[in-house]
Amino acid sequence: MTLDTTLLNRRMTHFDGHDEIWLFGYGSLIWKADFPFLERRPAHIHGWVRRFWQGSHDHRGTPEAPGRVATLVREPGAICHGMAYRIAPEVLRPLDVREKNGYLREVIRLHFDDGQGEGESAEGLLYLASEDNAAFLGEAPLDAIAEQIAMAHGPSGPNRDYLLNLVQALRDLGVDDPHVFALARRLPHPSAASGR
Ligand code: BEZ
Repeated sequence: MTLDTTLLNRRMTHFDGHDEIWLFGYGSLIWKADFPFLERRPAHIHGWVRRFWQGSHDHRGTPEAPGRVATLVREPGAICHGMAYRIAPEVLRPLDVREKNGYLREVIRLHFDDGQGEGESAEGLLYLASEDNAAFLGEAPLDAIAEQIAMAHGPSGPNRDYLLNLVQALRDLGVDDPHVFALARRLPHPSAASGR
């Protein structure tokens, strides 16, 4: 798959004619909602787990030293918690550009966690970086992933901050994510990572 997914995402017609869309965030979208939204609600999806398996050359790393950011991997029976945003369709365009490094829109059923309507769910979309995208790095030992995250910096800041912001956001949601929390525990101290 081409590295720049902007055009592929614009071709999605699934929500044509809708005047609002639910967008599910499982990574930076949980703690960095720098786009207009009508409402946000904690939510989860079935059959996916969050993994730091996507390379970041443009936000949390560079082409020479990519960072690692979250994507989703299919796992039957799993649940992934995050944040759902009700947005106007035009909000997707800038997000397509911001997340152009391998992420494709994927239609998903999301389930709300805030108790306003037991078992309430909605169709929505998320951005997915699947293993066929050029920036996909895939599985590696947790220590190696943590080391890479500790060393990487990009235009959006240190990769470490991305991980720690996600940890805090998940704690605020009352969510346990063993993969994410294990990576945070393995992060070398900042002075060790910078060689000081
Ligand atoms: C997310 O938080 O869901 C997300 C953020 C950036 C790219 C893809 C997904």
